[in-house]
Amino acid sequence: MEFGGFKHLVIEQDGAALVVTVNRPEALNALSQSVVREFERLVTQLEMAGTDAKWPIRGVIITGGGEKSFVAGADIAEMNAMSPDQALAYGQSMQDVTLRMERLPLPVIAAVNGFALGGGCELAMACDFIYASERASFGQPEVNLGLVPGFGGSVRLQQRVGVGMARELIFTGRRIKADEALRIGLANRLFGSVEEMLDAAKATIAEISEKSPTAIANAKSAMHSMIHLSVEEGLAEEARSFYQAFHTEDSVEGRTAFLEKRSPQWLGR
Ligand code: CAA
Repeated sequence: MEFGGFKHLVIEQDGAALVVTVNRPEALNALSQSVVREFERLVTQLEMAGTDAKWPIRGVIITGGGEKSFVAGADIAEMNAMSPDQALAYGQSMQDVTLRMERLPLPVIAAVNGFALGGGCELAMACDFIYASERASFGQPEVNLGLVPGFGGSVRLQQRVGVGMARELIFTGRRIKADEALRIGLANRLFGSVEEMLDAAKATIAEISEKSPTAIANAKSAMHSMIHLSVEEGLAEEARSFYQAFHTEDSVEGRTAFLEKRSPQWLGR
């Protein structure tokens, strides 16, 4: 699959990973409407790839171009010219991208190399998990603009760090450094340099690419759909997913290969 014609997203394949770099240096990679449209197009292409085991890409890494920023948020200059109705459409279009990212059959890792503020923090939280370099910082500073999060932050920050911490961060608009993001569970891992972080993200995707694509897609989908559920409902969802896994050829292959003491040959179905 070709990823041509993008202006603000630099898209490169590296082994099993598709590395997507948001590149709008003049605005610290803020998510203008045209960047949102490019994300819509990218997600559509990734959805089409499905779980085909022959497709070489088995995971996506999202990072920011330049030295300073992952993504500094929604584009404040563009928002300044929007009517409330236009702002609603803008917010909902990026919310839709974040939902579709969560539903992709592929894992998506945010590799946060600098400012992840407002819409940038929200983009990172729509990824499956977050790696951070030492220069990363996170925050939902919308209150400083008299606004509130609009790309999913009110929901996902509560899920990631708990109700109390999310409220404190959103009410104060405070920016936190990478070590605090690690401590509160927003970031999974912290790295001394951007290069180290990107290498680790690629290594994680290489590790995941050794597994059955259907099992990964199944695990991701089940975990996202059970996040709002009670323990009882979540267990029912897990049982459904476990049952469904037993219908896949990959699960037969995985068990058989284990018992035959050989590496599995995944089919992606
Ligand atoms: N939108 C548009 N332009 C932005 C931007 C944004 N979110 N963030 C930075 N820029 C622009 C600046 O205007 C500046 O442009 P000029 O050079 O033309 O003046 C350029 O990027 C560099 O920024 P600074 O000079 O401000 O750089 P700095 O290092 O001094 O500060 C910063 C960096 C702390 C990130 C600061 O730029 C900042 O506070 N940015 C805004 C962060 C923010 O509030 N994000 C949330 C936006 S609202 C939102 O995201 C709503 C939502 O949930 C949907």
